[in-house]
Amino acid sequence: MSITADHTTAAPATSPSIRDGAFGHATGLVCRECGATQEIGPHYVCTDCFGPLEIKYDFPAVTREQIEAGPANIWRYKALLPVPDDIEASPNLEPGFTRLLEAKNLAAELGLAKLWVKDDSTNPTNSFKDRVVACALSAAREFGSKVFACPSTGNLANAVAAAGARAGIKTVVFIPSNLETPKKVNSAIYTENLVAVDGNYDDVNKLASEIAGEEDGWAFVNVNVRPFYAEGSKTLGYEIAEQLGWRLPDQIVIPVASGSQLTKVHKSFRELVALGLVEDKPVKIFGAQATGCSPVSEAFREGWDVVRPQRPDTIAKSLAIGNPADGIYVLDICRETGGAVADISDDEVRQGIVLLARTEGIFTETAGGTTIGVLKKLVETGQLDPELETVVINTGHGLKTLDAVSDLVGPVATIAPTYDAFVAAGIA
Ligand SMILES: Cc1ncc(COP(=O)(O)O)c(C=O)c1O
Repeated sequence: MSITADHTTAAPATSPSIRDGAFGHATGLVCRECGATQEIGPHYVCTDCFGPLEIKYDFPAVTREQIEAGPANIWRYKALLPVPDDIEASPNLEPGFTRLLEAKNLAAELGLAKLWVKDDSTNPTNSFKDRVVACALSAAREFGSKVFACPSTGNLANAVAAAGARAGIKTVVFIPSNLETPKKVNSAIYTENLVAVDGNYDDVNKLASEIAGEEDGWAFVNVNVRPFYAEGSKTLGYEIAEQLGWRLPDQIVIPVASGSQLTKVHKSFRELVALGLVEDKPVKIFGAQATGCSPVSEAFREGWDVVRPQRPDTIAKSLAIGNPADGIYVLDICRETGGAVADISDDEVRQGIVLLARTEGIFTETAGGTTIGVLKKLVETGQLDPELETVVINTGHGLKTLDAVSDLVGPVATIAPTYDAFVAAGIA
C-alpha cells in the first residue's frame, strides 16, 4: 500500500550500490512540496523545487499480532520504518517502547478527565532522540558513511555520540557553546569529537549543511539523512496507539523545536489508520514552545502562513531553534486537526517541571516543562477540551537541565542531627 502520493518523475527505488532490502519497504524519496520522487540516497532536498524530501513506502499487510510479537523497542515497528529486516543484528541502542503512564494526579490538578504521559526520558540517552538516531544510523550504515554527525541543541548530540560509539563509527557532534554542562558531558563521554560552536543552533545548523556539502561520506543525521532520521519519531505515535490498546487519543501535546517530531507523530497516526491497525477518529494536535523561541506559536497566533525566524533567548535550550525546518508543516497540522500552537514564559517552564515532578514523580527537562506548562495554559484558555482523552509527551530528562530549577527547589531546612532539631523545624 502506498501511503505518500506517487507523482511526476519516475525513478528507480535505490541506486545500484545499495543492497536489496536495505531500506525495508521504502520505495523512494518524495518531495513534500511538489510530490516529485527521487531514488533512495543521502538526499534531503528536491532536485525540482528544493522542497524537503520524505520517505515513500509500499507497506505490506501488517497485523497487530506481528507487531506485538516483536522486541520491546522501536524495531517492533520495523516494517513501517526505512530499515532492513535484519536491523536487530546491527549494534544499536535499541530505544523505545517507553512507558505510557496514566497521570491521575496531574489530571486532577489541571481538571482533566483522562491524561497520559508518554515518558521518553527513559530512553538510553534519556531523550526521544535515541529513536530518530537509531533510524539515521541504519541509513548511514547502508550508505557506507564513514562519519556519523549532527548539529544539535543537546539531546541529539548525546544520542548520536552514544549510538556511534556502540556501532563503532566515528562521530562528530556540533553544539552551541552555551549549552548546559550536563548536555556537554553527556556527549563528550561517548565521543572525542564534541565541537562547541560560538553561535546559536541556527548558526551550528548552517555550518553542518556546509560541511555536509563539502565532505564525502559524512552522514549528518538531521541534514543529509534527515528523511530517514525523521521517520524514527513515528514510533512515538505507534507506541502511544498500541499502549492505549490500539486506539488513538483525542488530543496530544508535543514540544516543537524543528517541528519534525510533531509532524511524524501525526504521520504515524494516519499510517496506522491506513493500515487498518486503529480505527479512524479525529485527533487534535497541539504544539508547545517557550516564548523566548516561539516562531511557530507566533505564526499560529497571528494567522500567518509563514514562520518568521526568531533569535532564541530561553532556558528551553533543547527547543531553541529560531528557524524551524518543519515549522510550516506544524502550523498546517495543528490548524487542520483543530489543535493549536502555544508558548509560555521561562518561569512557567520551570513551574511545569516542578508540577510534573510533584504530581507524577517524573523529572523532566526544560522541553518537558514547556510541554506541561503549555498543557496547563491550553486548559486555562479553553483551547484544550478537558473532557477529552489527552496524551502529553515527555521528551527528555530533568537531570540534563538541573540549573533550570536549582533555585526553585532545595532543602526545606538545614538542621543539626538531633530529634529536637527535627521537631523544631516543624516538618512532622
Ligand atoms: C528534549 C527535546 N524535546 C523536543 C525536541 C523537539 O524536537 P523537534 O526538533 O523534532 O521538534 C527536542 C529537539 O532537540 C528535544 O531535545
